[in-house]
Amino acid sequence: MRRIAFWSPKGGVGKTTLALNFAAAAYYAGNRVILCDLDPQQSAVDVFSDNKLPFTVVKDLPQVTPNVDIMIFDYAPSLDNVPVEETIVIPLRASILDLKAVARTSRLVRDKRVIKCVNAVDTRRQDERILAMKLYADGAHLVKDRSVYVRSLTSGHTVFQKNIYGAREAKMEINRLLEKVLNPGD
Ligand SMILES: Nc1ncnc2c1ncn2[C@@H]1O[C@H](COP(=O)(O)OP(=O)(O)O)[C@@H](O)[C@H]1O
Ligand SMILES: [Mg+2]
Repeated sequence: MRRIAFWSPKGGVGKTTLALNFAAAAYYAGNRVILCDLDPQQSAVDVFSDNKLPFTVVKDLPQVTPNVDIMIFDYAPSLDNVPVEETIVIPLRASILDLKAVARTSRLVRDKRVIKCVNAVDTRRQDERILAMKLYADGAHLVKDRSVYVRSLTSGHTVFQKNIYGAREAKMEINRLLEKVLNPGD
């Protein structure tokens, strides 16, 4: 079983949005998936309570190890609660402040496989574009600023479930993140 954590020292960077959409990508790629919501704010559980997600979201850690292929963990933003999982996706915004906050965590996660995911990149803004491309060149994954992420979660879905405007491109970038996380050699 693969265990993948979505964690960041900062809030509001897209941990829950990416964890839910990543879980959907993994599910539609044929995996049995469970998402564990470890954030007391329980945003992922809230989305799940609309009963439209194709996979299960549980509050906290399950008592018994579930019979799945991939466990995904949506962490609370905290420096005191660093994931125990071997693979950590760290979402960040294309801003120098986020970059510095993440750089400060490098010691905490030095034994882990870290995938930085620059999220909600507004490519119309030159400053964001330049920083995002620099991070991309250093191996980060990029996810663009798209209203489809907000609109789909508002109606209890992921971008994989409804063919609304922008979903196709969003699915492609999440599928690429899935590939990067699951197949480190590629
Ligand atoms: N790629 C994206 N494009 C547009 N909006 C996004 C994107 N990712 C996240 N958001 C929005 O940003 C806000 C914070 O995202 P959220 O997933 O709740 O972050 P976190 O879990 O890190 O606190 C939410 O309103 C969400 O809809
Ligand atoms: Mg969250």
